[in-house]
Amino acid sequence: MTALTLSTAGAATLRADALVVGVAKPKGGKGLVVAPGAEAVDKAFGGKLAAVLETLGASGSEGEVTKVPSPSGLKAPVVLAVGLGTAPEKDEDYDAEALRRAAGNAARALSGTKKAAFALPIGAVEDAEAIAEGALLGAYAFTAYRSGDAKDAKGPLAEVTLLGTKPRDKAFKAAAERAIALVEEINRARDLINTPPNDLYPESFAAIATAAGKEHGIKVQVLDEKALVKGGYGGILGVGQGSEHTPRLVRLAYTHPKAEKTLALVGKGITYDSGGISLKPAGHNETMKCDMSGAAAVFAAVVAVARLGLRVNVTGWLALAENMPSGSAVRPGDVLRMYSGKTVEVLNTDAEGRLVLADALAKASEENPDAIVDVATLTGAMVLALGNRTFGIMANDDAFRTSIHEIAEEVGEQSWPMPLPADLRKGMDSPTADMANMGERMGGGLVAGLFLKEFVGEGITWAHLDIAGPAFHEGAPYGYTPKGGTGSSVRTLVKLAERTASGDLG
Ligand code: BES
Ligand code: MN
Ligand code: ZN
Repeated sequence: MTALTLSTAGAATLRADALVVGVAKPKGGKGLVVAPGAEAVDKAFGGKLAAVLETLGASGSEGEVTKVPSPSGLKAPVVLAVGLGTAPEKDEDYDAEALRRAAGNAARALSGTKKAAFALPIGAVEDAEAIAEGALLGAYAFTAYRSGDAKDAKGPLAEVTLLGTKPRDKAFKAAAERAIALVEEINRARDLINTPPNDLYPESFAAIATAAGKEHGIKVQVLDEKALVKGGYGGILGVGQGSEHTPRLVRLAYTHPKAEKTLALVGKGITYDSGGISLKPAGHNETMKCDMSGAAAVFAAVVAVARLGLRVNVTGWLALAENMPSGSAVRPGDVLRMYSGKTVEVLNTDAEGRLVLADALAKASEENPDAIVDVATLTGAMVLALGNRTFGIMANDDAFRTSIHEIAEEVGEQSWPMPLPADLRKGMDSPTADMANMGERMGGGLVAGLFLKEFVGEGITWAHLDIAGPAFHEGAPYGYTPKGGTGSSVRTLVKLAERTASGDLG
C-alpha cells in the first residue's frame, strides 16, 4: 500500500514530487479561495495562487483537480489544487468527508508519482485522519490480473506526507496508525471483491481468512461441507449444492481480555451469484462476483478491530457459497430445513443470500451477543430504492438503527434507515413449508429484511445493512472510490465496534 508519513515541515522546503493544496468556493462570494495549510505555497506564487488557478479555469468545486508548475521557492516541481466544494464559515473546519474525497481525487490524479506532500486544511486531528484515509483509499489499484505492459503502467502514488501534522504527538500518531490499519483492511476487502470467482470460491476464501486470523491473533474455525451436513445447515448447503465448489461457514473470533460487550457480524458470502436454476439473464450476472462483499466487509472489519486492539469482542461469520445451476442444484419448489429448524420453500433460487444468512444468523444468535449486524448485497430492490451509493439499514430496534445511521454519517458512508413493515410478512407464507424465500415484489428489500428477522434469536438486538448499491462501483472512479469493489460498510462496522468498546451504545 501507499506509505503514509506525518510532518511538521514547511510546504516550501519539503522535498516531494508534488504538493497538494485545497481550493474552495467562497461562501456566498465569487471567485476562489485557497484553503488553510497552503499559505507558504501561495506566498511562493506571490500571493496570486488563487488568481493563477482561476485563470486556468478552477472553481474549487468538488472533484476538480488542477495542476500547475511550481514557481521558484518551492522544492516540489508541481502543485496540484483539489476542489473542496464550498468553504465553511470563518471559524469552522472543512467537512471531514469533503477532505477525504479531495484527498482521494488528488491521490488518483497523482498515480505514477513517487512522493506527494499534502498541504490541506487540518483544523483537528480528525481532519488529518480523514485526509490520510482519502489519500490511501484513492491510491488503490487492483492489478493482480494485469500482465505485460499493462502491469508496468504507472502504479499508484507511492508515498503520502501530511503537512501540518505532528509525528511525535500521540493523537496524530494514533490517527495515522488507525488510518493505515483501516485502509489496509478496506483495500483487502476490495481485493477480495475484485478477485474473479474462478479464483475466489468458498474454500479459497476460507483459507485466506484462516491465514489472516493466524497473523492477527484471531481465532478462526471453518465448517466444511461435511461439518455443515452434520450441523444441519440446510440454508447454506441448499444454496451451495449446485456448485463444484462446496460451501463453508467461517467463524472469526477476536476477543479482548477486558471486553464487556460482544458484537457479532454476519456477512453474505456468495462468491458468485448466477441466480441458480432461476438463472439471471445476461446483463445481470457480469458483476456477480461482488456478491461476497458483505462477507469481505465483515472479514476486513474483524481484522481491523484486532489490529486496533479494541476493548470489545467481535465475532465474524462468513456464510460462503457459490450459487450455480446444475443437476444437483436446489430447485424452485424444494423445501430446505434450515439450521434453526424452520422449513423454507425455495420459490426463487436467486433469492439465495437470505438462505445462507438465515443459517449464520441463527448460529450467531446461539452465542447470545449484545448485538448482531449482518451485511449483504441482498436485493436489487434496495438499489432501485436508494441508488448506487447508499446502503439501507433495517433493524428490530429503532434506536440501534438510528445509531448505525449516525455512525455511517460520521465516517462518511451514505446510508438510510428503512422500515420492516409487518404487513409484508404474509407474502412469504408458503402452502407447503413454514415460509417461502420470496414474497411480494414491491418493497423487495424490506421483504428480504423481514425474512432475516425470523432467524435472529429472541431478544437480540439486530440490524441488517443491504449494501447491494454501493458495494461495487461500475462507473468512473470519483473521490476515493475506485471502479469495482469499494469496501462499503467497513468504516461503519469498525466505528460501531469502537462505540461498543467505549460503552457509548446501550
Ligand atoms: N445478489 C443479488 C442482489 C443484487 C442485485 C446485488 C444487484 C447487487 C446488485 C440477490 O441474490 C438477488 O438476486 N436478489 C433478487 C431477489 C429476488 C429474486 C426476490 C433480486 O433482488 O432480484
Ligand atoms: Mn441472487
Ligand atoms: Zn445474491
